[in-house]
Amino acid sequence: MTHDWREWHEAYDHRGSPLARRLAVVQQCIAALLDAAPPGPIRVASMCAGEGRDLLGVLENHPRRADVEGLLVELDPELAATARTRAPATVEVLCADAGMAASYSGAVPADLVLVCGVFGNITGADMMRTIDLLPTLCAPQAAVIWTRHRRPPDVTPGVRRRLAENGFEEVAFHAPEGTMFGVGVHRLTGPPRPFRDDVRLFDFVGFRALDDTCSQCGFTYAIGRAEITPWLRSDADAFAEKFRKLDDASIRIRTEPDVWSPLEYACHVRDVLRVQTERILLAQDEVEPVFVPMRRDERVVEDRYNEQDPAQVVAEFLTLADALASMLDGLDDAGWERTGVYNYPEPALRTVEWIAIHTVHELLHHRGDLT
Ligand SMILES: C[S@@+](CC[C@H](N)C(=O)[O-])C[C@H]1O[C@@H](n2cnc3c(N)ncnc32)[C@H](O)[C@@H]1O
Repeated sequence: MTHDWREWHEAYDHRGSPLARRLAVVQQCIAALLDAAPPGPIRVASMCAGEGRDLLGVLENHPRRADVEGLLVELDPELAATARTRAPATVEVLCADAGMAASYSGAVPADLVLVCGVFGNITGADMMRTIDLLPTLCAPQAAVIWTRHRRPPDVTPGVRRRLAENGFEEVAFHAPEGTMFGVGVHRLTGPPRPFRDDVRLFDFVGFRALDDTCSQCGFTYAIGRAEITPWLRSDADAFAEKFRKLDDASIRIRTEPDVWSPLEYACHVRDVLRVQTERILLAQDEVEPVFVPMRRDERVVEDRYNEQDPAQVVAEFLTLADALASMLDGLDDAGWERTGVYNYPEPALRTVEWIAIHTVHELLHHRGDLT
C-alpha cells in the first residue's frame, strides 16, 4: 500500500497512456464545472485523492482558483505530501482513510465530490453503498465526478442507474473510443441527506485483490483490447526513459550472481518484443502453431547481452515496440482471436490478445528490475 500507488501515478507522465487520457477528461470536467459555478466559495471533497493531479492540475491556472476550498483525503503519506506541495492554502490534504465518513467532517456538504480511481478498487457491494451515501456528502445541486474502467463485465451502467436512484441526474458520461475507462459527471437534483460521521463508505481493497494480477509488479491481465497498444507504447517509452537514466557504471553490473544487469534486462525485453511479434505473425498464418521457447537464459550468454551497446539496444527496443503496436492496431477481431500453443506459465492454447497483454506485462514487470 505504499510504493505501488506511487508507481501507479507515474503512468500519468507517460504521454498517451490510458491514465493520462483519463486525467485529461477528468480535468476537462472539473474545469467545466468551475467555469459554470455561481459566484462565491466552491467546496470540493476528493476521495482517495492520490497526488490530487485532477483538481490541483486544474487549479494551477483556473480563474476560480481563489474560490475553491476543499479537502483531499489520501492514505499514503508520501502521495499526500506531494499533493500538499501543489495545493493552494484553501485546500487541505488529509492523510486518512477515505472509506470512513468521519474523514470528511468539516469539509462537507461539498459542491463537488471527486470519486476518481476508487470504484475499481472496492467491491461491487461497497461501490453501491458509497453511491447510496453520496447524498450525505453533497450540498444541494452538488456535482460528483467519478471514474470506473469498463472492462468486461462493464459495471458502469449499474453505477449510473444507482446514481439515478439516489437523486443524481447525469450531466455527462465519457467513454472515449479506444479507451476502457468511463468518466461520469452527475448532479444531485434530489434532496441532500444529513451527514453521518459514524458510517463506513467502503474498504479499499485495491484492484489486485479484485483482478487477475501479478503478485510482484501488480500488472493486471484484465485489461481490455482497446487498452493494449496504448499501454504497450507508453510502457515501452517508460522503460526506455528509466533505462536511459541509469548511470553507465551500473548498467552492466549484476547485484547478485543470478540477477541480470539492467543492460541484460533491456536486451531481454527487446528480444521478447521481437519473439512475440514473430509468434503473433505465425499465429496469423498457421492453425494453432506451437511456439518455440525463446531460451531466455541461454540468449544472455550466447548473444553476450552484457557487452551490447546500450544506446543501440534502446533504439532497437523502441522500434520493435512501435512495430508490434502498429501490427496489433491493424488486426481485425479474427486476428486478435487466433491462437497458438504458448509454454508459459504452463503449456496452453493462448489467443493473440493474451500474448499481447502478456507482452505489456513483460514491459512493466522488467521496468521494476531496472535498479
Ligand atoms: C487509483 S489511485 C487514485 C488516485 C487519484 N484519485 C487519481 O485518480 O489520480 C487510488 C489512491 O487511493 C489511495 N488509497 C488507498 N486506500 C485508501 C484509503 N483507505 N483511504 C484513502 N486513500 C486510499 C492510494 O494510495 C491511491 O493514491
